[in-house]
Amino acid sequence: MANLEVTVNGMTLPNPFVIGSGPPGTNANVISKAFDEGWGAVIAKTVSLDASKVVNVAPRYARLRANDSREIFGWENIELISDRPFDAWIDEFKQLKDKYPDGCLIASIMEEYNKDAWIEIVQRCEEAGVDAFELNFSCPHGLPERKMGAAMGQNPEILEEVCTWVNSAATKPVWAKMTPNVTDITVPAEASLRAGCEGVAAINTILSVMGVDLETLRPEPSVEGYTVPGGYSCKAVRPIALRMVMQLGQLIREKYPDRTISGIGGVETGEDAAQFILLGAHTVQVCTGVMKFGYGLASTLCDGLSAFMDKHGFESIDDFRGHSLQYFTTHADLVQRQKDAKAAAKRARMVKKDTEWSGDEFVEQSEALSRD
Ligand SMILES: Cc1cc2nc3c(=O)[nH]c(=O)nc-3n(C[C@H](O)[C@H](O)[C@H](O)COP(=O)(O)O)c2cc1C
Repeated sequence: MANLEVTVNGMTLPNPFVIGSGPPGTNANVISKAFDEGWGAVIAKTVSLDASKVVNVAPRYARLRANDSREIFGWENIELISDRPFDAWIDEFKQLKDKYPDGCLIASIMEEYNKDAWIEIVQRCEEAGVDAFELNFSCPHGLPERKMGAAMGQNPEILEEVCTWVNSAATKPVWAKMTPNVTDITVPAEASLRAGCEGVAAINTILSVMGVDLETLRPEPSVEGYTVPGGYSCKAVRPIALRMVMQLGQLIREKYPDRTISGIGGVETGEDAAQFILLGAHTVQVCTGVMKFGYGLASTLCDGLSAFMDKHGFESIDDFRGHSLQYFTTHADLVQRQKDAKAAAKRARMVKKDTEWSGDEFVEQSEALSRD
């Protein structure tokens, strides 16, 4: 059986599967369950110093289903970061590290554009024992009104400055979580890497409007008849997430080979995860998949990834990370390759056995057998 263990930024995880920040990491009880079920690491729901400013609404999810199977493949949320008091979180981080000293617990943090606040939140989480940080520069709704989340992630200059503050205070690894709601994800990613972040995580949710109810004419999810654009996740976003991870994979391979990528977006199987790793991801996060299938998904993911690795003879994750990046090229190169392949096929069709040659046919056959 393949070895799923990964070492990422000095942390050794039993497998690359990480609970993505969101409802599956919303308190110590559910995080304990995730460790018990064998997840490689857990990223807690995003916290901030002053939770009193965070007010969540209900309903805050809307789901898109296939017409025939009713399977959920798209999920919109208008959920904010955690509205639980920061002190309660600090107690729970301590409890979790006491209970799971070997478990990798990552704090997802978010603050306004305020150096002291970022430094304080880093220091207090480190004192509570967390193993690493993920900086939430990517929540697309609600918090941009306070210039937080995606509003920060869409401004590379501010993002770089905030990452510099965080890295001046953090002794643990720092991942910057990217918003996909930008033209070129490599620009904010590179800003975070320049500022010393050990890794980038991508993607957070895609800004979306799930739909409009044709009876009430109100957009969904409807809170007292009104809504805001929300964040789209689940299977439907996977191709977009893979494209962005591929771009980050190329950036890291070319310019920052010691940094890491945590791939996120629509992962529900080990085979989905293998694709993120083939495009350069070191770890793979799952959020909506856990909301659909529960924490037991960890063993399905490990089995699927392990079967994929056995089939190809890969003994470790390092054996195939980034392997498929080499197959991305330019469109002009695709045209040239297609032309070359057609010419080669034509030559192959022309080749006859030499016992079949007659007359001067060896002239044509010599041409077909030549490579210029
Ligand atoms: C209901 C919900 C709440 C989320 N809350 C957070 C959050 O607090 N912080 C964060 O960084 N990402 C949050 N996310 C984004 C996820 O961590 C993840 O980046 C995104 O959903 C794509 O992955 P998925 O398709 O596996 O869910 C949330 C996602 C959902 C669906």
